[in-house]
Parts: sequence; structure tokens; C-alpha cells
Amino acid sequence: MPDSSATIEAHLKEARTFEPPEAFRQQANVSDEGVYERARKDPEGYWAWWAEQLEWSKKWERVLDWTDPPFAKWFVGGKINASVNCLDRHIREGRGDKVAFHWEGEPGDTRTLTYSELKREVCRFAAGLKGLGVKKGDRVTMYLPMVLELPIAMLACARIGAAHNVVFGGFSPKSVGERMNDCESRVLVTCDGYYRGGKTIEQKGRADEAAAAVDAFDKMVVVKRLDGEAKLQEGRDVWWHDLVEGKPDDIEAEAMDAEDMLFLMYTSGTTGKPKGIVHTTGGYLTGTFATTRWVFDTKEEDVYWCMADIGWITGHSYIVYGPLTNGLTQVMYEGAPMYPDKDRAWAIAERYKVNVLYTAPTAIRGFMKFGGEHPEKHDLSSLRLLGTVGEPINPEAWMWYHEKIGGTNCPIVDTWWQTETGMHMITPLPGVTTTVPGSATKPFPGIDAAILDENGDEVGAGKGGFLAIRKPWPSMLRTLWGEDERFIETYWSKWDKKTYFAGDGARKDKKGNFWILGRIDDVLNVSGHRLSTMEIESALVGHGSVAEAAVVGASDPDKGQAPVAFVILESGSKDGADLRKTLNQHITEEIGPIAKPREIVVVPDLPKTRSGKIMRRLLVDICEGRDLGDTTTLADPDVPKEIKDLYEERAAKTA
Ligand code: PRX
Repeated sequence: MPDSSATIEAHLKEARTFEPPEAFRQQANVSDEGVYERARKDPEGYWAWWAEQLEWSKKWERVLDWTDPPFAKWFVGGKINASVNCLDRHIREGRGDKVAFHWEGEPGDTRTLTYSELKREVCRFAAGLKGLGVKKGDRVTMYLPMVLELPIAMLACARIGAAHNVVFGGFSPKSVGERMNDCESRVLVTCDGYYRGGKTIEQKGRADEAAAAVDAFDKMVVVKRLDGEAKLQEGRDVWWHDLVEGKPDDIEAEAMDAEDMLFLMYTSGTTGKPKGIVHTTGGYLTGTFATTRWVFDTKEEDVYWCMADIGWITGHSYIVYGPLTNGLTQVMYEGAPMYPDKDRAWAIAERYKVNVLYTAPTAIRGFMKFGGEHPEKHDLSSLRLLGTVGEPINPEAWMWYHEKIGGTNCPIVDTWWQTETGMHMITPLPGVTTTVPGSATKPFPGIDAAILDENGDEVGAGKGGFLAIRKPWPSMLRTLWGEDERFIETYWSKWDKKTYFAGDGARKDKKGNFWILGRIDDVLNVSGHRLSTMEIESALVGHGSVAEAAVVGASDPDKGQAPVAFVILESGSKDGADLRKTLNQHITEEIGPIAKPREIVVVPDLPKTRSGKIMRRLLVDICEGRDLGDTTTLADPDVPKEIKDLYEERAAKTA
């Protein structure tokens, strides 16, 4: 991490503002700004009000215990079951025949589950897990793509009090094995394979490889998604459909303590060993329930589609627990958004008359690159609200989303949060907030976010600093699995043990809107000036010739660090000296000469994970001439080598 005694300089200027459309405001779940003040005055009362809307088998005795920070306890003494809140409660309230999921496979096959059917599947699988010896408190690992068995398995774990540990289906077998060993998980739920980009992807062999690396491996449950003949290991493996055969449609739900672990989710840290983020039951459910209701402005009749993969926190919070505690009807899609054609996503949105759509800026930029003619082929008039998550959205992409997808009348909620926070933390309330493209706007009611300097003092408007959360919130991570010290060290040691260090740089403008500048480690220090890689990227993408850009800091003998830009050009734009001159001039105009990249390397693709995150670390390695290491978690593992060659060619020319 760079030295941070000075503040981060933020140069990005954005003047356009968008008020909630009047028609939207009138129907919004919350349209009164008073909610912020109400939550600020009595945060515990406010969070208790949300928790009361869930079903508890025993009410809590105390809302919050913060006597031993940073170890928070929420809803102390309360008993609750997550699957009951996602299923039984709705069925009792008459939503049994309501569709929970419209699922669509990539080849076009479909499956629909009502709330009653979903509960039946969950109970059968829960009974199956019990039959395999899974008990309350155990960890069950899932290594699955976007098939319905994934949320079913997660809810089945929740029903019997086992914690789930979902590993993104595209991760390497090695990372599955590491994670299972770390949390001593003995059972793996996987599949024979799946469909992606028009191909069948084999998964069972990868799961076998993972299992071979696990010390105490016991059982593997295999979902049959392909027609192929995956080999099952006698005594160890069982087909999902055989396991659930003859199991009861209803089994009793375990009454869990509010602070019992609901799940583990591993996420990368600054060191090689992934961090096992621990989320518990009562607080996590309360936070995801509340934010889904207010941020997505959910209505009984809504059809909601979150394009994220359940293998990431976004899918946990905003496909499984938030939407299902709210009793929503969702769309879930297995495959690639451009298969068989570049309009697949919009065909799905039209088919199910999606009202609320949630996706990532990188996906939006991808859709932009395909061209606006693809959404134009479809009737997207059912959409009334759009969301983004995962990275700062450049105003260019925001505007495209607003115009081409939202038809200019859908509010956009740019939601800042993390695996660790469990729920949206900084986000517009779509019926209240005036949005500004590129800003996640204001902390959710009840969230005390601030921009602090190295000493823990709040910095003034317009100044950059560290994003911090100063009060506990219900869905906060409780610790890192087996690593209390690392938990304290990583998140609660920068200032005091009551202030959460998010690891992001940010600034607040005069109106109180937050601008996320990206991870602290994505911040450059160029000749003593701090710049966010995101600002330079945003400027580049704002130029008509650039479709996508990734900027990293390379060590530089003169300036300390110098920005290096990797850009994908729009079709029709040409690489060459003219292009470089134009882009440098553009950046100078947008940010200042300090931000001019040392190199602009035109590349055919960027190194992205399968969830679409750009692996800037690999680009740094390329600039520093380091070994590229393991690239197997990338969507295309060959991309870094190609970029390396292009970078070296470019650097040789400028030398
Ligand atoms: O840097 C922030 C960025 O993503 C990080 C969290 O990543 P992860 O735990 O993988 O969770 C992603 C999905 C919640 C943050 O520290 N980030 C997330 N949302 C935004 C964002 N950056 C800017 N704007 C956002 N809306």
C-alpha cells in the first residue's frame, strides 16, 4: 500500500444530475428523506424495526452488543432460520404458487419454480445432506454454475444449520481444495458440467481434482446438467437426483442463533491466502432484506433480474437472501450474455418482462461495445429501475445504461459495498436521491460512512481519503474464518477498533455525494500526486475511440510511479501516433498533464476473471517484467501473454 499521509487527489468532475422521475417517486417504497434522520437518531431502533419484519422463532433480548469491538453481536439471544424466511413465511402468506425463479439455460431450456416447489426441493436436499451425515455447524462446499440446484443447496444448508461455502464455478480445482481444507469441509456439491458460450464445460473432473487435494474429503453430490456420462466414484459420489429420491417434501428447520454462521465466502486479500469472510444469520438477513426492499424498491408483482453469478457475494445477497426474504419473482440465467447472439440478455429481459435489473459496469461496457442496436431490437419498457455494482462506473457507461437500457426514465442505483459488508452501504434510494453519473451517492440509512485521513480525521469536501464505516451494521462480517487476528489487523487497525477500514479511497463532494476512487492499492502516486487509476480509465473510455481501458501504476525512475494504459479500441479507430497524441491531449484536458500515461498499449482484450473483473495485478506484473504466474482463473488464460508481447513491443519503441 502506498504511503498515505497526504490526501488522494480527485480530479474527476461530473456536473449532470438526475432527480427521481416524479412517477417513480410517487410509487416508491421510500420517498421521504426523513428516513436518514430517523435512522441516525436511533440506529438500533431502526435496525430492530427492519428485523421485526422477519420471522423469528425467539425474539432477541438485545439489538446490538458492541462491548468487545470489533466483534459485534446483533440481535443477541434471537433465534431465526434463513430458509424459513425465504420460503415458509411466503407460503404461509399465500405466495406458495408465486414464481420464485424463472430459470433459463443457455441452450434455451427453461425451468420454473414456485415458492412451494422451491421449498420442496430445498427440504428434499436438506434431508439428503442429513443422510450424508451433514450436521448443524458443518461446512458444505458448492462448486456449481448458475443452475437452480445452487440456491437450493444453499437454502438446504441454512435449513439444517450447516454453513455453505460457495466457490465460484470458474475457479481452479486448486482453489476449491484450498478453501475446503481451510474450513475443514468434507462435502462438495458440484455438477457433471454446464453450458457456456455455446460449449459444454466439463466440471466433474475438476471437482475430482479438488477432492483429491482435500485431507478429509468425504462425499460428493453431482448435479446432472449434461447428458454425458460423468464417472461417479463408488462409495464417495452420488447423483443429486438419486440423493433426493423419496425424501420428504418438508423437514423441520433448525432454530439458529442469530449469531450462528450462515455462510463463509472466500475473497482475495493482499496476501496469497484467501480470506474466509464469516457472515452470521440474523444480522445478515436483516441487512439484505432491508436494502433489497429500499434500494431496489421491490414490489409484490416485480420481476427482478440480477445478472451476477451466485458464486460471488452479489449473488448471495441479491439473488438468494435479499430477494427471497422479500418474496420476489426472479430471473436466473445460466450462460453467456452474448450467446447465441449479442442480444441474448435483452431477449431474456423482454421475455420475462423484467422490472428491476442489476449488473456490473464491466458488463455494461461490454454491452456498449456490442452496440446499442442490440437492446433496440427488444421491448424493454417493463424496466423501471437499474442497478450497478462491483466497481466505479464511468459516467460514459452510466449514460449509456440510462439511455439505451433505461430509456431515460429508470433511476440508476450505483451500489457500493463489499463481500465483507454483506449489503449495500453507499447507494441511492431511487425515490429520494438525486443521482450523479459515477457517484454511489449517500450512505444507506443507518450506515455511518466517512472519508478519513491517516489520523482518522474527516477530510473536507472535495478531498480524497480513506473510506471508513464508523458504526457497526447488522450484516457486517464477524471475523475471518479461523483468523481473528488477521480480521482485526486488516479491517480494524488503521484507526481504532471501532472504525472499519474498507480499503477503498473515496472523496465526498459539497453535496455529500461519495465518489469511490477504487482500492487503495489501485491508487497511483505520480510525482507526489495521488491519482486514481479509475479516473484515468474513465477519461480514456470517455473518448470516442476507446471501448475499454485499464490503467495501472508502473514504477518509474523519475516519477515514482507512472500510469500505463491498456486500451481496447472501438471498431473504426486506428492505433498509431495520432491516436496517442489525441488521447494524451484528452487526458490532459480531463484530469491534467500529470495523468498522461507513460505508455498507451492497444490490446485486443483485457485480463478478466470470469465474473468480469479486470485483473490489474497481472497488468502490473507485465509492466514490472515479472513472471505472470497462475492465470487459470481468467476468462481467457492466454490474454496476459498476448498483452505482454504488445507491451514489450511498445516499450521498445518508446525507449
Ligand atoms: O473497490 C470496491 C469495489 O469492489 C470492492 C468490493 O469487491 P467485492 O468484495 O468483490 O464485492 C463486489 C460486489 C459487492 C470494493 O472495495 N466496488 C464495489 N461496488 C462498487 C465498487 N467501487 C465503486 N463503486 C461501486 N458501486
